Amino acid sequence: MKSNHIVFFFPILLKGCDASVLLNSKGNNKAEKDGPPNVSLHAFYVIDAAKKALEASCPGVVSCADILALAARDAVFLSGGPTWDVPKGRKDGRTSKASETRQLPAPTFNLSQLRQSFSQRGLSGEDLVALSGGHTLGFSHCSSFKNRIHNFNATHDVDPSLNPSFAAKLISICPLKNQAKNAGTSMDPSTTTFDNTYYRLILQQKGLFSSDQVLLDNPDTKNLVTKFATSKKAFYEAFAKSMIRMSSINGGQEVRKDCRMIN
Ligand code: HEM
Repeated sequence: MKSNHIVFFFPILLKGCDASVLLNSKGNNKAEKDGPPNVSLHAFYVIDAAKKALEASCPGVVSCADILALAARDAVFLSGGPTWDVPKGRKDGRTSKASETRQLPAPTFNLSQLRQSFSQRGLSGEDLVALSGGHTLGFSHCSSFKNRIHNFNATHDVDPSLNPSFAAKLISICPLKNQAKNAGTSMDPSTTTFDNTYYRLILQQKGLFSSDQVLLDNPDTKNLVTKFATSKKAFYEAFAKSMIRMSSINGGQEVRKDCRMIN
């Protein structure tokens, strides 16, 4: 499964699962999908095709937010991961602002910032560790981790929590100067399937983002990283449970006819 089929599940975190990320920019309003953290989102046509088929047979019933939650579930399963029953009945939101993407957790966040960001959305520390496992799939641009490999801080050019050979590899992909446009790396280069290797990489100091590596900074989250690294079953169960929790956050108002625009 290529990453363009799975990019849709992270934006759920912004305002809840209300498909605000699918709305197009209009007039003076720049929509979420055009905000900096969402530059790599694509494959919106997949959702459009599902919506078209549903509207043809059953108009006005299935929201774009439900389609997104189901697509995320299926993308995980088709990539070798777990499956789960998606509770349905979400409504679609009527607003989408690029400026609000600043509220998304950043890859530079430390553990307490991550915990706070998740708890503001009613999600626990276990949800944080389990959902971060979504980084077993997909691609990251250099811009998301370059702070760790160049001019990290006053005493270290490279983040000392990075495995040195992994850091050297990242520097060769993302040199300080003459970096290729769109350069970057798979977040879990060891496999292309949905599995628990993400946690094993963190234990080897090979987490790509600071926000991945800092999961080792506290005994509770570290224990969960170790548990998920050792047991794929435990990770799959926790991931499915947390995806249901995250995708149940919803404050929408309508069932859109077209996922790219409000009714
Ligand atoms: C814990 C807070 C999180 C942070 C700080 C974070 C950060 C990021 C960043 C910086 C990227 C790379 C963007 C780029 O350079 O193109 C990314 C990609 C991705 N994230 Fe997260 N993320 C978080 C949580 C999640 C969650 C909860 C999920 C899903 C359960 C998720 C799934 C993904 C996926 C699948 C990609 C790959 C997208 C692609 O291939 O285009 N992330 N994330």
